[in-house]
Amino acid sequence: MVDKFCAKHKIRCLFAFLSSIDYIRWSCDTPQSRTRNSLRNGSVDKFVINGGEPLSGTVTISGAKNAALAFMPATLLAPGRHVLTNTPSLRDITTMGQLLEHMGCGISKAGDSLTIDSSTIHDFAAPYEHVKKMRASIYVLGPLIARYGQARVSLPGGCAWGPRPVNLHIDGLKALGAEIDLDAGYIVAKARRLRGSRIVFDLPSVGATGNVAMAAVLASGTTVIVNAAIEPEITALLEHLVIMGAKINGIGTPHLEIEGVEALTPANAEMIPDRIEAGTFLVAAAICGGKKVRVERCNPHHLSAVLAKLQRTGATLSVGADTIDIEAPTTIHPVDVATAVYPGFPTDMQAQWIALMSVADGQSVVIDSIYSDRFMHVPELNRLGADITMADNVATIRGGAQLQGAKVMSTDLRASASLILAGLAAQGTTEVLRVYHLDRGYEQIEKKLHQLGADIRREKGEDF
Ligand code: UD1
Repeated sequence: MVDKFCAKHKIRCLFAFLSSIDYIRWSCDTPQSRTRNSLRNGSVDKFVINGGEPLSGTVTISGAKNAALAFMPATLLAPGRHVLTNTPSLRDITTMGQLLEHMGCGISKAGDSLTIDSSTIHDFAAPYEHVKKMRASIYVLGPLIARYGQARVSLPGGCAWGPRPVNLHIDGLKALGAEIDLDAGYIVAKARRLRGSRIVFDLPSVGATGNVAMAAVLASGTTVIVNAAIEPEITALLEHLVIMGAKINGIGTPHLEIEGVEALTPANAEMIPDRIEAGTFLVAAAICGGKKVRVERCNPHHLSAVLAKLQRTGATLSVGADTIDIEAPTTIHPVDVATAVYPGFPTDMQAQWIALMSVADGQSVVIDSIYSDRFMHVPELNRLGADITMADNVATIRGGAQLQGAKVMSTDLRASASLILAGLAAQGTTEVLRVYHLDRGYEQIEKKLHQLGADIRREKGEDF
């Protein structure tokens, strides 16, 4: 009896030890680990910014978070070893990696190269603990149903700025023949083999297009997706699925035709540059009175709408094959923006644009047509001296404010970015609290800004 207990205890200890190795492997030397440790200690990191420094120099853009978050679950479609390069070191990437590990995948990271072995998957569930940290976890749903005929994925629920439904994902997968029930907050799905179908999306959702396309590539027959998203991350995903053996026509257009195949093979891929990170640095240069900032390793084609708007502010832009040079305007002209699906102005740049317009020479209007509630940054920007009023999803910004440093609170990823931009333009010291939101989507933003001449540092935050 005692021996049995000891044996069980030893096995438990061994498991605990092995999982701690896993944990260490995923958490070493990353902003995420600092966040986790500081959260455990009851405090979180903050950025301290002394504003007013003009920027100059070169900043290198990392791989796109939103591409990597789609490519990682795509590995479930083809059991085997996949190497994803130019993968950014971000909290969201770690979260997706942990989810895939939970399912049984082997994962290792060396520099920006992420290796995923999806041949050892044994668990087809995405628990709430993972999904609540990151909504993109829903991307595992399509591949799991298509490849393994079953999935149990927690419903993501809302996010900081409001409800974010997944009805288009569910309806699309149902149209392919998946049986889907909701059980205790989980999407429970099963299917023998999915069947091709015609799916018309009410609106071009990035996530639903990715999810349904990943399911359709292994369905029997042909799937037509009408009103598909054409964001660069989705186009890159579809092109990668073709390299894995999928048959897809219409890539880069809203009309996709996918002829299902029996199986896909593992393939390596390089992530496209992060267009939102690039856009954020361009706005940083403009708001700080940047002399000459070069944003390199980006794709200027992916930023057409942002570049057009920046030009209208008076900024001077010079575009190369994978570089954008920007010189800030002496006076920032006010420029209205309405967010739209690609190739329109991205909702992920809306908060940063409002920060820029706060110091423009006149009044502008920013409308978010994608996420009508995504304005948590507005009251915080007003605390820095901006003059912004809201009516539904319309922000009216009376520019010309001389922003003054203050303590402000991050609420979500892009809101945090806008507060940093405002802090860089403000007089005096700004403290941006709870920057763990930023670590979800910007790789070493403080280091990159510092290299451009900004006075910004990461410090231990206050208890909360
Ligand atoms: C992705 C991006 C996110 C970006 C957003 C819009 C990732 C991981 N995230 O999010 O950074 O802000 O695109 O460009 O790539 N909708 C529905 N039903 C659904 C799905 C979406 O009504 O089933 C609505 C949403 O509420 C929103 C709009 O469709 O109003 C667009 O959302 P969607 O394109 O799906 O965004 P995500 O894929 O979640």
